[in-house]
Amino acid sequence: MPEPKKKVRRIGVLTGGGDAPGLNAVIRAVVKAAAACHCEVIGLEDSFDGLLETDRWRRLVPKDVRGILRLGGTILGTANRGNPFLDAVETTTGTKAYSARCVEVFHELKLDALVVIGGDGTLAIAHEFSKRGVPLVGVPKTIDNDIVGTTNTFGFDTAVSFATEAIDRLHVTAEAHHRVIVVEVMGRYAGWIALYSGVAGGADVILIPEIPFDLEKVARRIRDRDHMGARFSIVVVAEGARPVGGKATVLKAAEGATVERLGGVAALVATDLEKLTGKETRSVVLGHLQRGGAPTSFDRILATRFGARAVECLMQGTFDHMVAFHPPDIVAIPLADVVGRTRTVPPDFDVIRTARAMGISLGD
Ligand code: F6P
Repeated sequence: MPEPKKKVRRIGVLTGGGDAPGLNAVIRAVVKAAAACHCEVIGLEDSFDGLLETDRWRRLVPKDVRGILRLGGTILGTANRGNPFLDAVETTTGTKAYSARCVEVFHELKLDALVVIGGDGTLAIAHEFSKRGVPLVGVPKTIDNDIVGTTNTFGFDTAVSFATEAIDRLHVTAEAHHRVIVVEVMGRYAGWIALYSGVAGGADVILIPEIPFDLEKVARRIRDRDHMGARFSIVVVAEGARPVGGKATVLKAAEGATVERLGGVAALVATDLEKLTGKETRSVVLGHLQRGGAPTSFDRILATRFGARAVECLMQGTFDHMVAFHPPDIVAIPLADVVGRTRTVPPDFDVIRTARAMGISLGD
């Protein structure tokens, strides 16, 4: 007879990868929902590094998460270096395979399950730990909104709101000086942030990784605007955007398990557009400002729903799954269907068609 599943009574929670507004809201929701089910929650520090030693954790009860709903960042710390399945690590108990050590400490801390809050990289690692017998559920986070299987990740709405406000501010100064301003937003290989903030901010040009750009065509759009009497233009460019036949602009190449760092495309686009149009053109990179700040109400609600649903999954014995937003519901989908894939903007997506209908150039 198969052994009955052990009831989950002690949950470890960790945050991995780049931070995103809403991480603390998830932690808070996990702690509160677990307390309602008479479960203990152990907060692990700095992603899976919190499972390398037996002293990198703290018990979290509802009073410990009071007031963190509105805070950006993560009270647990995070890390986005390396791959636990490739690396060996020095611990107080000697040099160990990172992943084996994590499993060992998971048992030493008498944890029954984990809630792993992270992006594609962290969720892929979580799936590997699942295969090694660690019961867990994943919670998708990233400002990039590029995780397969969920229409939204928390953090995205906050990043878009910030970028939209920045574009609003750039509009007035661009107009005053009759300049072109090229604004670079994050998003890695997906154009969600650029597309949404560009449409929300009334950009004239939006360049995304999914649609390689031709700057001659962008310059034509800028000249047309001049002829219409609008002597300024706002170009929103995703950090992963690339010219037709070209490559994305890389600031630092990938090294070992650390992924390449994108950035710098706005400066290149600005230089070329200035040459092509003869108009004074400036560039600005919004960078990590998009990751900081308080989560929007949308992100707080999504993060809270994700956290509560993750605990529900653990109580029901649904492991190796990720909670996901399938409007209007929060569902659980197998991690196996999610990892190793990127959710990019479909070329025929409604917001793309809307942008075109608004006369926005997508550089093609
Ligand atoms: O995945 C979130 C993100 O902010 C990307 O948009 C960006 O390319 C990357 O992380 C930057 O990472 P880091 O903070 O490690 O440079």
